[in-house]
Amino acid sequence: MNLAELNKVALAMVTPGKGILAADESTGTIKKRFDAIKVESTEDNRRDYREMLFRATDAMSKYISGVILYDETIWQNAKDGTPLIKLIEQSGVIPGIKVDEGTQALPACPGELVTVGLDKLAERLKKYYERGARFAKWRAVIDIGRSTDGREIPTMTAIRVNAHALARYAALCQAAQIVPIVEPEVLMDGDHDIERCYDVTQRVLNQTFRELRTQRVELEGMVLKPNMAVAGKKSPRPASVEEVAEKTVRLLKSCVPAAVPGIAFLSGGQSDEEATAHLNAMNRLGPLPWRLTFSYGRALQAAPQKAWSGKADNVAAGQRAFAHRARMNGLASKGEWAAELEKKAA
Ligand code: 13P
Repeated sequence: MNLAELNKVALAMVTPGKGILAADESTGTIKKRFDAIKVESTEDNRRDYREMLFRATDAMSKYISGVILYDETIWQNAKDGTPLIKLIEQSGVIPGIKVDEGTQALPACPGELVTVGLDKLAERLKKYYERGARFAKWRAVIDIGRSTDGREIPTMTAIRVNAHALARYAALCQAAQIVPIVEPEVLMDGDHDIERCYDVTQRVLNQTFRELRTQRVELEGMVLKPNMAVAGKKSPRPASVEEVAEKTVRLLKSCVPAAVPGIAFLSGGQSDEEATAHLNAMNRLGPLPWRLTFSYGRALQAAPQKAWSGKADNVAAGQRAFAHRARMNGLASKGEWAAELEKKAA
């Protein structure tokens, strides 16, 4: 393992002014997104849609540091035969790959999940590296609420098992000269308040870093992708932008060692503008021990998906919508975003 090289890639992934495009929806998830815009989820449509994003060259080169791909996409060619991964590289953007294989029910923990995909991971990482991937992603999912038999979740069992798998994955990535994005996502579904999200996320992050240390993962060669501290979507007490920013930064300072080069948040179902406003407010609270940026899926893609709606005539409009969100989040990664900038562009 060449740690200096891993650290260089990790720092490039969190370059100020840039962030990560999470375009790694599994076939099931992209179908859900396409259903919402009434587009059939065929291999060609998925290719056309992602090609549209990757060919938004100006936005890609200015505001995007890395793209997380799904297995299908990393092997796919653009309509003219150019590998999609080449389009990404041509904009100076680093290609990455989602390597987890989704979730399964966790035995003896009703309603809780464990992320799977460690078997044969070393061999798969080797192939992805040869294809050009320089970072990877593994997402663990922790739900807050009640289990199917009425008990409070998450259990410490689910937190431990998922943290263990995240660290196993991260260690394998580094051995394969690939920077791991470590993503323990505490979901924002439910009616819990921001304090409950804070407490659960703190337990999850502490356990994750304990496992990373135990399994000798080099913190300088990874990127953390956490949720923010937010109230549940159905909470009667939604938190303000300032409260989310203040609590999230306090939480991260208490759990994330300064050796980690950067933190790239998931959007997790926040609205586009909320995700941008939260990131911006956090970066205004600096100086911080690590760089804070975005690794958004929905908050970067909802607008371009709607503008595109599966029609070749709408490609330019889709690219404009993507470029706008990428620019707004790029500004937020430096604490330079303001709500007026949204209106000006609209
Ligand atoms: P969202 O920003 O839509 O939460 O997606 C990010 C991601 O990669 C989830 O794993």
